[in-house]
Amino acid sequence: MEQISVKKTRVGDVELALSGPVEGQHKWIGQVQTLRELLACWLVLDEADLPLSPRLVGPPGIGKTTLAMAAARTREQPLYIYQCTSDTRPEDLLVTPVLAESGKIAYHASPLVSAMLEGGVCILDEGNRMNEKSWASLAPLLDHRRYVESVIAGITIKAHGDFRCAVTMNDDESTYEVPDYVLSRLQPTLDIGFPSRQDEMAILRYHLPFAESDLLAITVDFLQRAHELDLTFSPRDGINIVRYALKRLAQEEDHPLSADAAWAESLQRVLGAEAMDLDRLAAERQQSLGKPLPTMDFQDFFFEEDDPLHPGKDDDNPLI
Ligand SMILES: Nc1ncnc2c1ncn2[C@@H]1O[C@H](COP(=O)(O)OP(=O)(O)OP(=O)(O)O)[C@@H](O)[C@H]1O
Ligand SMILES: [Mg+2]
Repeated sequence: MEQISVKKTRVGDVELALSGPVEGQHKWIGQVQTLRELLACWLVLDEADLPLSPRLVGPPGIGKTTLAMAAARTREQPLYIYQCTSDTRPEDLLVTPVLAESGKIAYHASPLVSAMLEGGVCILDEGNRMNEKSWASLAPLLDHRRYVESVIAGITIKAHGDFRCAVTMNDDESTYEVPDYVLSRLQPTLDIGFPSRQDEMAILRYHLPFAESDLLAITVDFLQRAHELDLTFSPRDGINIVRYALKRLAQEEDHPLSADAAWAESLQRVLGAEAMDLDRLAAERQQSLGKPLPTMDFQDFFFEEDDPLHPGKDDDNPLI
């Protein structure tokens, strides 16, 4: 069996086994400005300057992790990702003791600590799922001190000068309220918005180069309409819809499905039947958020908007 060699390094008297970086090509398409803003955070302009650790915020599947991965790649630095969860403990984030074959305790550095030691980029993914105790252990790392203290290994670990960090957060479902003293260390906030029609098509084409244009086009139409209505369907949803539709089309060779039928089926399976009627879904969502629906006067039910007999027709004409 092939032996995977684990890189080790020494901090004080303690030997740490390092996590490996994440491999892969991660291209960021469109929204060049957001990528530039993230890269700006990581510049260091002077000996007295420090890099910033920004928050990348946006709904699920919009590309937060992809953006951070692409930025690390642009800088040609090894990339490490730590997936934060509600039960991440400080030692998981830093150093964990494991029982080695020799019966001795070996210490494993987390992806974050490995990035700190190797001068890599670490993405703390889904940061708002992590509890305060774990965040507290990162407070010195995220300010001018740039170190962490592993209580378990009894060592202080200083970050390499090239170490950079970003935290991704979903703006809707926080598991924990991240305390203010932590948020003030995770600045600036870079909000990732929905892609334009052209960019969304390029994203789908990039991930699904084997898909027919028609299928991509109806998916982009659907996603763009959802973005207009402020519904949080994402490029990831679009990719999943096309992927499943294509698989269904390929499978039903004897009883060919039409592309439209396969797409409609896929939409329902991926996003639920309610996604078939985006306008209704948007209205329901607005109501549940307590937002008023666009106002409709009594006369709106009887007259078309441009009807010359509509009593409110000239309401916004300042000359009348
Ligand atoms: N601008 C983009 N360029 C290239 N791929 C993109 C872009 N935006 C989204 N994607 C693709 O959409 C999918 C979802 O992106 P990603 O996983 O980065 O989203 P996320 O915001 O991190 O989601 P989550 O909040 O669930 O972690 C991925 O397959 C990603 O490659
Ligand atoms: Mg992500």
